[in-house]
Amino acid sequence: MFFSQFISMFMWKKIQDKLLDSYYLFKSKYDVSPYGPDTKAYWVRRRELFYLFDNGIQTDAEGLYSVTPEAVACQIAKTLNAESVLDAFCGIGGNAIGFARAGKKVFAVDASGERLEMARHNASVYGVENKIEFLHMDVFEALVKVKAEAVFLDPPWGGTRYNEIKNFGLNNFAVDGAKLLELAFQQFSKVVLRVPRQFNLLELDKFGRKYVVQDNYIRSKLYSRTLYFT
Ligand SMILES: C[S@@+](CC[C@H](N)C(=O)[O-])C[C@H]1O[C@@H](n2cnc3c(N)ncnc32)[C@H](O)[C@@H]1O
Repeated sequence: MFFSQFISMFMWKKIQDKLLDSYYLFKSKYDVSPYGPDTKAYWVRRRELFYLFDNGIQTDAEGLYSVTPEAVACQIAKTLNAESVLDAFCGIGGNAIGFARAGKKVFAVDASGERLEMARHNASVYGVENKIEFLHMDVFEALVKVKAEAVFLDPPWGGTRYNEIKNFGLNNFAVDGAKLLELAFQQFSKVVLRVPRQFNLLELDKFGRKYVVQDNYIRSKLYSRTLYFT
């Protein structure tokens, strides 16, 4: 009895997700993204990316397609056991806001000054701008200069077509992934890396570091993985 109830709940969840996907597909024909056709799948889901999107969230095209959805950002922030964190690729602030809301001191770094200002504004929408220090810097400078208990790395996945790469590796990030991890391991005892779901974990063997893998789901779809190195 219990088993059949569980199966029917699971099926119902799948049906709900399919219906929502169809709704988003239909809506994207009319609710046109102001950031161009490549971002339409993200624009229709903007309130899933930031629940307070309509309260004045600022973005640009890259910010929109690369932000960590709010539910995933909260999951990561809750899991990371550290009082202070360097968010070394803060973008428009999805993760930085999540960490600050979880009570952590955040150092938010981005190479784009415009996106960093959007992150600052977005943090004020969530009332956490005072818990975040915004630093306009390159990641390789930040990893050496900024001191925090942990570092969170969410390097760019190379645009909206990252899904077409079957076996995503460290060299598919828009920055040198191997160099990034090597420096992060030298400077921090706690390193967290967010990767696309099709990332090839075997690539990490060469670092000889242990890690825990967290699957990040949006509704019932695997969206990304977050790796917590110790
Ligand atoms: C995947 S997005 C980060 C999204 C962010 N976690 C969020 O939830 O909004 C990657 C960001 O890295 C920034 N970036 C790219 N190269 C960088 C570098 N060398 N140093 C620092 N930031 C860089 C980009 O400007 C972009 O905003």
